[in-house]
Amino acid sequence: MSLIMKISVLQILALCILDGVLHCQGWARHTFVVQETPYARLCSTKNILTVNGQFPGPTLHVNKGDTIVVEVHNKANYNITIHWHGVKQPRYPWSDGPEYITQCPIRPGQKFRQKIKLSSEEGTLWWHAHSDWSRATVYGAIVIHPKNGTSYPFPKPHAEVPIILGEWWKKGITELYNEFRESGQDPSVSDAYTINGQPGDQYPCSKSETFKFRVDYGKTYLLRIINAALQDILFFGIAKHKLTVVGTDASYTKPLKTDYIAISPGQTIDVLLEANQPLGDHDYYMAAKVYSSANGVEYDNTTATALLHYNVGNDNINPSSTPYLPNLPSYNDTNASANFTGSLRSLADDDHPVHVPLNISTPLIFTASVNIFACASNSTSCNGTRLAASMNNISFQLPSTDILSAYYYHIGGVYGDKFPSVPPLKFNFTADVLPAYLLTPKTGTEVKVIEYNSTVELVLQGTNLAAGTDHPMHIHGYSFYVVGWGFGNFDKDKDPLGYNLVDPPLQNTIAVPKNGWAAIRFKANNPGVWFMHCHLERHLSWGMDMTFIVKNGDHSDAQMLPPPPDMPRC
Ligand code: C2O
Ligand code: CU
Repeated sequence: MSLIMKISVLQILALCILDGVLHCQGWARHTFVVQETPYARLCSTKNILTVNGQFPGPTLHVNKGDTIVVEVHNKANYNITIHWHGVKQPRYPWSDGPEYITQCPIRPGQKFRQKIKLSSEEGTLWWHAHSDWSRATVYGAIVIHPKNGTSYPFPKPHAEVPIILGEWWKKGITELYNEFRESGQDPSVSDAYTINGQPGDQYPCSKSETFKFRVDYGKTYLLRIINAALQDILFFGIAKHKLTVVGTDASYTKPLKTDYIAISPGQTIDVLLEANQPLGDHDYYMAAKVYSSANGVEYDNTTATALLHYNVGNDNINPSSTPYLPNLPSYNDTNASANFTGSLRSLADDDHPVHVPLNISTPLIFTASVNIFACASNSTSCNGTRLAASMNNISFQLPSTDILSAYYYHIGGVYGDKFPSVPPLKFNFTADVLPAYLLTPKTGTEVKVIEYNSTVELVLQGTNLAAGTDHPMHIHGYSFYVVGWGFGNFDKDKDPLGYNLVDPPLQNTIAVPKNGWAAIRFKANNPGVWFMHCHLERHLSWGMDMTFIVKNGDHSDAQMLPPPPDMPRC
């Protein structure tokens, strides 16, 4: 054996020993360099935060069950953390990423080696920054292929492509965020939506760079659609083409044929696209536009487009002909959004069984509200009141030491364990008019501690305080079954009778409909510290968040793994 070979074997062994595992083939390693990079959109150039200079960032390709390592280098001037959205990270919250929940930020000039531990996820997930609003431009796809020797539960598509929906502001994200913080009001609405980083030709200076997907007539394609927008649920469709939904949040669904999808920030939807339209003289637009349900709240009414282009017959395309636009539901069509989301069903076949908990040990009900605080007395920019948000009437305050290390190392004073199991104030949550005293929540950093292997049912109840709207709620460390949803107040006697316990969809993000509720179930078999929050960034920043601590079980394989040596320090 040559010296060089010995060294590399030793290095691999060292890596394996470090991680306490001997079988470590297939541990792909990646480097993410977070940096500032100039990008031109909408006729002007600004610096944005990127990973490796790319926008959207690099796609990670993995197989089901893999563990990969990503070394994140922060070469920007801002603190940063990276989250692997929807990756359950069994027993290993250390790499999960939310700032001040599971780690302190990676400071400028520092690096952090994160492990991405996949288990049952298969399909599409994504990664994004998880500190302030840096995720506006710091995001990319995670494509999880079936294990070698297994295949999709549908005919192999001819080709596949990530379709990442985003949101673009002409001003810098730091400026946007600071203005939002200072004003205490809604943030300025975006100047454009984007598809794979491009607004498309409905916007100025965007025509030549419009994302173009080339297809062959008669072939079927897999689109891995991700909503990475900061603030908005989006409608998406392709002119004159049906979409067949086959998965959401890295879990397969029963095929669902549809003209459009509604997709929440955080959610992924895999669709099959049959290129079956007559070869005419047109391209077809794929388009994304807002679904915005809050009365009186401004929204961005622009439409992002990309092109679907047939390879054969392109000779016929008259360059001046306008592509067909899809008909998408109108911006405030709550039924169109909720009906689509409510139509998703787990595949639920022999190879993809459903394990929805039937006996519930831990029933929980959390309200999600937009609220109002009086201005701080020393604030000059705040105009009488400022907007806030809460879960179970607590507006979540981020601590300055992360909750995970406080829990692991028994550091007191960082968080409390009094997050209520049911709403502390009972009222008609979805009434048209509500008394003003309900508007102001408490503040706190409260966690809900639950026993290992509890079977949890959590009813998320939207309220009409300040402004009723949809809340795409996301949990870290778990996927959950969405067993029911409805408008109005959850009725604990009647509504459970309508639950779907047979083939409920398995998701990590669920849009709780405007002035309605959603019931989710999961088994708490992943010990650790796991953030739960609304994935609308303004609501997250206002405090529509909470944290679960799932305790260790008795067996050593039911316990959290130790931290890596290079955890960022606070
Ligand atoms: Cu997409 Cu807390 O994350
Ligand atoms: Cu929300």
